[in-house]
Amino acid sequence: MGHFQYRDRALYCEDVPAADLAARYGTPLYVYSQSTLVDNLKRLQEAFAAAEPIICFSIKSNFNTHIAHLMAQHGAGFDVTSGGELFRALRAGGTGDRIVFAGVAKTDAELNYGLDVGVRLFNVESEAELHRLADIAASRGQTARVALRVNPSLPPKTHVKTDTSVRGTKFGLDIETILDAAREVLGKPGVAIAGLHMHLGSPILDTKPYADGAARGVQVIAELRRQGHPIEYLNMGGGFGISYRKHEELPPSAFAAVILPAVRDSGCKLILEPGRFIAGNAGVLLSRVIYTKDSGGRHFVCQDAGMNDLIRPTLYDAFHRIWPVTPPADVPTWPDDCEAEMPGTRATDVVGPVCETGDFFAKDRYLPELSRDDLLAVFSTGAYGMVMSSNYNSRPRAAEVMVHGREHRLIRRRETYEDLIRCEIEV
Ligand code: LLP
Repeated sequence: MGHFQYRDRALYCEDVPAADLAARYGTPLYVYSQSTLVDNLKRLQEAFAAAEPIICFSIKSNFNTHIAHLMAQHGAGFDVTSGGELFRALRAGGTGDRIVFAGVAKTDAELNYGLDVGVRLFNVESEAELHRLADIAASRGQTARVALRVNPSLPPKTHVKTDTSVRGTKFGLDIETILDAAREVLGKPGVAIAGLHMHLGSPILDTKPYADGAARGVQVIAELRRQGHPIEYLNMGGGFGISYRKHEELPPSAFAAVILPAVRDSGCKLILEPGRFIAGNAGVLLSRVIYTKDSGGRHFVCQDAGMNDLIRPTLYDAFHRIWPVTPPADVPTWPDDCEAEMPGTRATDVVGPVCETGDFFAKDRYLPELSRDDLLAVFSTGAYGMVMSSNYNSRPRAAEVMVHGREHRLIRRRETYEDLIRCEIEV
């Protein structure tokens, strides 16, 4: 688990006991390992080094400015999908020439913002957007550089809510019509089509979709060039899966093995947009048990983090490992198979305080007997955790802490009750 390790039956993030962090900053608490974040970026940089890629950290996966700043310091650009994300990327030290801007419904204000700061490429997702961008850029006397986002129409490969490259999703231009769209803007002063973009879905634990997507991409690039568009970039998006259960993550070299040959064939520069692969296993969510109860034949552990803090389990039926910060002596410190029944455990539903039956992190999970004040760690929550949190049930959002070696620092303070009404107009 990267730099999250048990030492003497106590969870550490790098060299700091997780229990100390919970005591100091309170719970629920997102804890990130700086070394894991940087290592994960480096693993990608190394695996794809032959193509000298521009790795654009997908800031939607974790938008904390400190994390984005760390990425920029270590050579990443950014994939953004809204004006707000563009603002965050710039605030964190990103520069327009290392930012790519996706999204199916970019407003005029967002397109103008992208032009203002000179994003390297707009990842354009429809014909209508292409023309709108061309008109706006032309009216400013500019030429917007564009990568057309293609939907390569692949078979299902991940959860239906996060699969973006099957036919009929809202993303990108259909592979059957993309060439017509490109032909229409040939010679238009406001846009220059300089790249092809795809994002296949997320998370993906197989290389085949990348091999197939890249092969289709190379064909489309050849056609676009025949039309007269000087294509320079192939952007393969993000989506690389991580280990949520065991060791299911593929090494970046496996993805590189199928993507790099296509990049070579196309003669393009490579752009990647990883989010989860960098941030996912670099974060845990710490929570504290409030009560336990037995009801309707089930055993519940009610802890202080809820679906407003981490919505993935209820939204996608996503699996996150959960284990005590200080496991008792009669269970393994870190079971290899965290789904198996083990002596010393019982089937437990881990639930939160939110008033919804869907407020759970795990059902029928084999956990040791827990009692009030015990700390739990919900693993692999560094991506799509905090960023998808909300104030539902008027719950102040959690704090975030960055750990580096023995050092730790607050990178987002816990919200207060006053924060909850800050944007409301006074009665
Ligand atoms: N590029 C584009 C255009 C994307 O839409 C996404 C993710 C990424 C890159 C980064 O994908 P990654 O490398 O992180 O897999 N909330 C969901 C995931 C939604 C992903 C949306 N797009 C979850 O919690 O699983």
